[in-house]
Amino acid sequence: MTTDPGRLTLAFALVLAACGGAEKADTPSSASPPATTPAPAPVPSPAPAPVPAPAPAPTPAPTPAPAPSPAAQRGAVLYQECVDCHGIDPEIGVRGIYKGVTADVIVAAYRRVSTMNRFLALYSDGDNEDLAAYIRGRVGP
Ligand code: HEC
Repeated sequence: MTTDPGRLTLAFALVLAACGGAEKADTPSSASPPATTPAPAPVPSPAPAPVPAPAPAPTPAPTPAPAPSPAAQRGAVLYQECVDCHGIDPEIGVRGIYKGVTADVIVAAYRRVSTMNRFLALYSDGDNEDLAAYIRGRVGP
């Protein structure tokens, strides 16, 4: 099979006509005088460095709420004595309760604050450890 030169020429002419027509249509009839300064040659932008596809962030496994330890569970019960002044949840931090993350801090607070003195006799060291465990679980990471 041979290429028909006539067909090629015809196709070429059609392309030319199409381009020419488009150009005419684009030229505004009342063209303002051409600007004297030639448009600056477009600066070739440097080829963008290939951006490595971001590694898909590992879907964080939903953290199951840690089951409170037995100590913290006991502490939660003991804490009911504290809610009147410190709020229902140590997380809220009413009157510095969030500091009570160790039994030492708690006992020091019992001593320092007269309205809490009674807990010195009421709660054992173990109770205060449990309270601290509970408070840690509520306020700490
Ligand atoms: C009658 C009210 C009252 C009760 C009940 C109470 N507290 Fe307090 N507590 C206070 C006051 C008042 C402060 C001092 C707040 C301040 O210093 O601004 C305080 C402060 C604290 C602090 C912070 C100490 C610090 O270093 O700032 C801790 C910890 C604490 N209490 C623990 C407890 C625990 C545990 C209980 C329950 C067993 C309890 N409190 C029950 C009134 C109370």
